[in-house]
Amino acid sequence: MVYSARSIALLLAVSIAGVTALFLSLINSVAPSALLVASLVSFSVSYLLTYVVLEFLIFRGINKIDKMMGKLMKKELKGIAKEKTTSLNPFEKLNQEIATFALLQQKEIDELKKLEAFRKEFIADVSHELKTPIFAAQGFVHTLIDGAVNDKNVRTKFLKKAAKSLDGLDSLVQDLLTLSQIETGDIKMKFVQTDLVKLCEEVIDQFEEKAEQKKIALSLKPARQSKVYVLADELRISQVMTNLISNAIKYTPEGGSVSVSFDVGKKNVTTFVTDTGEGIPSQHLHRIFERFYRVDKSRSREKGGTGLGLAIVKHILEGHNSKAEVHSEEGKGSEFSFKLSRAKEDED
Ligand SMILES: Nc1ncnc2c1ncn2[C@@H]1O[C@H](COP(=O)(O)OP(=O)(O)O)[C@@H](O)[C@H]1O
Ligand SMILES: [Mg+2]
Repeated sequence: MVYSARSIALLLAVSIAGVTALFLSLINSVAPSALLVASLVSFSVSYLLTYVVLEFLIFRGINKIDKMMGKLMKKELKGIAKEKTTSLNPFEKLNQEIATFALLQQKEIDELKKLEAFRKEFIADVSHELKTPIFAAQGFVHTLIDGAVNDKNVRTKFLKKAAKSLDGLDSLVQDLLTLSQIETGDIKMKFVQTDLVKLCEEVIDQFEEKAEQKKIALSLKPARQSKVYVLADELRISQVMTNLISNAIKYTPEGGSVSVSFDVGKKNVTTFVTDTGEGIPSQHLHRIFERFYRVDKSRSREKGGTGLGLAIVKHILEGHNSKAEVHSEEGKGSEFSFKLSRAKEDED
């Protein structure tokens, strides 16, 4: 059945003419010619009237709404599966479209509510994280002002402690800035052919002293002279390696070892940062890439951690269409890894 103004008007007009003729034929005195005329007149009048009312008042309006809904949905639902209705009934079609549209609006509202909750939580977290080092530094400075400044031994100790808190504050603000720059897209990733071995070598060199202090064997496998080319933002991947190696050293007790190694495949290169440290309990593993999430808050802070290192790693790797993987066993050690696309090599 085709739902158009014409067909409905035709159907109605035929029925009205039929009923009129039937009624008139019951009256004996009505001549057949009059019957015909009456049927014709009632047919044409009712056809015209129904057609005009349906076409101009209802169908055109519905079609306009339908078209507008179609446009709205196309704009709003890009990428989202649309339920295409096969019904020819414009009312049913419209109904379904409105329902789908409403559903999508609801989804969007839910998404916005989630974002809002996330924003509130983030502000609360940042304020808390800022408060801790400020509060500590403030305490030491006030104690000094209140008289401790005259005691030579205490003076240096307190000043050092205040300086340590301020250093922590500085790292926190630096990490927050980095995160926000990556998120707002202020810093676009610049993908260039990068020698991953050389990059890791340079990062490792920066940590040599720290590793030595903790008697941790820090090594790069394979031999230093080999080259592994990837397509990456050099500076950002350096930051990823810095954060991963710094964590590995931080969370590995004295005498342990930290190593960087590669698995070179046809299309990708996987980089591993492996340590023999304290490991991460399995119930925490899925959360460590969240901002400010630490297995042990106070211990991380004491070691100069901001809780943002792995969140930054996650963001940078997302910018490289990659993600960090982690395997860890409590008490035995952890292994962080990520994949990067290989780049064509100019030289051997
Ligand atoms: N190599 C590792 N070994 C053990 N625990 C780790 C390691 N790397 C990260 N973690 C855990 O994940 C948490 C989040 O890491 P990160 O985001 O770098 O913050 P933090 O500033 O605390 O280092 C750390 O607090 C620590 O509990
Ligand atoms: Mg860290």
